[in-house]
Amino acid sequence: MTEPDNPLLRARETAEADAENAQARNRLWWERLPMTYADWESDDRLPAGPEELKRIEDHLFAASPFLRGRFDFTRFRGQRVLDIGCGTGVLSCRFAKDGADVTAMDLTATAVALARRNAQAQGLAVETVQGDAENMAFSPDHFDFVFSWGVLHHTSDTGQAFKEVRRVLKPGGGGLIMVYHRHSVVYYVHGLYWLLAKGKIFSGHTLRTVQDFYTDGYYHRYLTGGEITGLLRDAGLTTRKITVTQYEKKILPWIPSWLDEFLKARFGMCLIAEFEKPAE
Ligand SMILES: C[S@@+](CC[C@H](N)C(=O)[O-])C[C@H]1O[C@@H](n2cnc3c(N)ncnc32)[C@H](O)[C@@H]1O
Repeated sequence: MTEPDNPLLRARETAEADAENAQARNRLWWERLPMTYADWESDDRLPAGPEELKRIEDHLFAASPFLRGRFDFTRFRGQRVLDIGCGTGVLSCRFAKDGADVTAMDLTATAVALARRNAQAQGLAVETVQGDAENMAFSPDHFDFVFSWGVLHHTSDTGQAFKEVRRVLKPGGGGLIMVYHRHSVVYYVHGLYWLLAKGKIFSGHTLRTVQDFYTDGYYHRYLTGGEITGLLRDAGLTTRKITVTQYEKKILPWIPSWLDEFLKARFGMCLIAEFEKPAE
């Protein structure tokens, strides 16, 4: 069989061929295409040294108005923070720079190694752990805050991961989870483009299955605000705030900035839930 020319589909094929279970597919996908913000097509996607890791950090903060200006990393000084799905560790390092006691966890060995190198290069004491959000090795009630940026829509069972988040959080502790938003321009515009313009509708694809062609990860769920609130509630967590946003790049290149901001605040692709574990 010839390999597809789409790197996201090639990663799916590897994952399906080699995986022994559902979560191994997720892991193998990310081992093949680690999240480094490099072009998915590029053969050289791994940051070579501290300068390239710094460029990833600069890129992520420049690209995300929410991370840059709306989330206060400094309020976790002295607190135990868990960053689930840390990737290159840029956000774990940011918590650590602002004085938090950080554990950076990822499913893949590649991401854990990158996060460790990143922290070492900056002289930051970040604990790095390879682990699965659905079955974490931490004791109950351990963390003050659990953070996860762009991860738990990719895991094989999002609800199970939320239950684990509740278990490892201290009573009264909080968290923030960002997942993909279904009621978003990206979901519908990309989906319809692939279905109609690329003709995938004629091979039986739907808005959901066509995501495989353009969305990262082996699993990629797009959730609504109601769905994430429901999953958090089922896990015993109380949602305090839902924010919809998107990265800096315009949603559609030809629209004016005011319309772009309006659309991002309602139909942006990042769905952010801030929540608490009730104090007992
Ligand atoms: C889109 S990347 C996001 C990385 C990082 N949070 C960032 O914003 O740059 C998703 C990451 O989640 C990790 N991941 C996926 N499922 C996971 C799970 N069940 N447990 C831990 N990490 C997971 C992947 O290995 C990958 O590094």
